[in-house]
Amino acid sequence: MPSLLVFCVLFLLPQLAFSITRHYTFNVPYYFHQNVFAYLETITYFQHLFFSFFFLTCSNICVSYQIKSHNVTRLCNTKSIISVNGKFPGPRIVAREGDQVLVKVVNYVPNNITIHWHGIRQLRSGWSDGPAYITQCPIQTGQTYTYNFTITGQRGTLFWHAHISWLRATLYGPIIIFPKLNETYPFEKPYKEVPIIFGEWWNVDPEAVINQALQTGGGPNVSDAYTMNGLPGPLYNCSSKDTFTLKVKPGKIYMLRLINAALNDELFFGIANHTITVVETDAVYVKPFITDIAVITPGQTTTVLLKTKPSIPNATFFMMASPYFTGLGTFDNSTVAGILKYEKSKKKLPLLKPILPAVNSTSFVANFTKRFRSLANTKFPANVPKIVNKKFFFTVGLGTSPCPNNTTCQGPNGTKFAASINNVSFAMPAKAMLQSYFFGQSNGVYTSNFPVNPPFAFNYTGPPPNNTMVSNGTKAVVLPFNASVEVILQDTSILGAESHPLHLHGFNFFVVGEGFGNFDPNNDPAKFNLADPIERNTVGVPSGGWVAFRFLADNPGVWFMHCHFDVHTSWGLRMAWIVLDGPEPNQKLPPPPSDLPKC
Ligand code: C2O
Ligand code: CU
Repeated sequence: MPSLLVFCVLFLLPQLAFSITRHYTFNVPYYFHQNVFAYLETITYFQHLFFSFFFLTCSNICVSYQIKSHNVTRLCNTKSIISVNGKFPGPRIVAREGDQVLVKVVNYVPNNITIHWHGIRQLRSGWSDGPAYITQCPIQTGQTYTYNFTITGQRGTLFWHAHISWLRATLYGPIIIFPKLNETYPFEKPYKEVPIIFGEWWNVDPEAVINQALQTGGGPNVSDAYTMNGLPGPLYNCSSKDTFTLKVKPGKIYMLRLINAALNDELFFGIANHTITVVETDAVYVKPFITDIAVITPGQTTTVLLKTKPSIPNATFFMMASPYFTGLGTFDNSTVAGILKYEKSKKKLPLLKPILPAVNSTSFVANFTKRFRSLANTKFPANVPKIVNKKFFFTVGLGTSPCPNNTTCQGPNGTKFAASINNVSFAMPAKAMLQSYFFGQSNGVYTSNFPVNPPFAFNYTGPPPNNTMVSNGTKAVVLPFNASVEVILQDTSILGAESHPLHLHGFNFFVVGEGFGNFDPNNDPAKFNLADPIERNTVGVPSGGWVAFRFLADNPGVWFMHCHFDVHTSWGLRMAWIVLDGPEPNQKLPPPPSDLPKC
């Protein structure tokens, strides 16, 4: 019976003591395993603190991720998917700025697994970053690895996902970081907070899709649907029962934590007859701005406030997302829809649809991204490096690689599709780079000669050169500790100009400039925004354009940078930065944890 008492206290206390009740779904923490609350899934942050206080098994956020398969039906198609704790989308990590997070991952599936905490800075905890063969060898079947990191100087929405092959297709979930205790949001307090995580659904096994594409050299098959919190919604066949519905009250502010976990598609998002206010992106607050439509690339997160109508309207409203795409290949040109429904409104009401931009609305995207600005105030300064020590000019885009002898390939003109940075298509090493680097055993794993410039200059966004072949290698850039770095990412028109959402691990960067056409080193730098540039971890290189960013290399380790379209990453649009240790003890990467997986 004492357990019943604790139960009541747990569930009543937060509701009484705190004006907002936040209901979040936790994955089952360690200390739940042995006790009567093992079946609980939804607890509030305060309940979590309460637990932590009374069950001192773990002083911080400790969770257990069991990687298992289970059957899921979408679009009248049942298949086995890989997920965490049998949940799809996966469980939320809910923490506070400053928390230490421990996630014990146990792999019960035949596939190799790694998990990446996308956007988490991982200050001196590179061993917990997660990209396979970059910071760790994969967790093999039956093995366990505990990711251990502290959330420093970040608050907002991020997400976690598998970081090996295309397993991210079903292995993903939100990360929610509250401000420190006694800190508030720099905007109006929301009545409720709702994560909305976008994904892609395949009726077939996405692993088979990418493996076959890499074999034949052709473009992979596209997904069958987009999903909103795992649900495709009523615009697909046999899907109306799988619709995400958000019930709201009038006259309240709802915080929507938008996350694009899709594999290969940027998305437009809008709600019929409602505007949204963007307040944070990639766990960094922004100067708030109002919009009808948001654009989110894979790897980006955007937190928005939705103010509901002052009184119950005579309609229900679609929340919809559809792709933004400018490439030459095929893509999933479908629309996911969820429903925004006012509580206690009448049953039969007209259902209104938002008007989303056309699929290739590049100028809309450019105008939208230009509106992101850092708060850049005393509390949240934009510490953009003013002086640059290291400059890099990287072309990003598609290319080809030769078809092996005695085979036929389905890529352009009988070649295989490839993608590259500065014409280097990154070959995955057989051993993890971070370990090789840390123990001084890089021989045969990687080289440190990643090119600073493209091998030859051409009109990058003009007619493509005749030779589109890429080179292959496992190359890294080595940076001294605290180097201030400027990178220009230049899209190429080889096999079609296309926007590329480039993601950098281990850092946030400041987006100081962007434009269409070729970057002009003589005139463009003068126009850089060094006052309030947006700080983020993923930036869309404009289709047929360029983007410039700066960051301070203050985090020792090996850091992956890649296109967050999985298809382009698989084709080689990826590279690694190595940031050396600094002189001080707190500027060095600690040795690896004892349970670090072996290759
Ligand atoms: Cu979200 Cu390296 O990825
Ligand atoms: Cu790309």
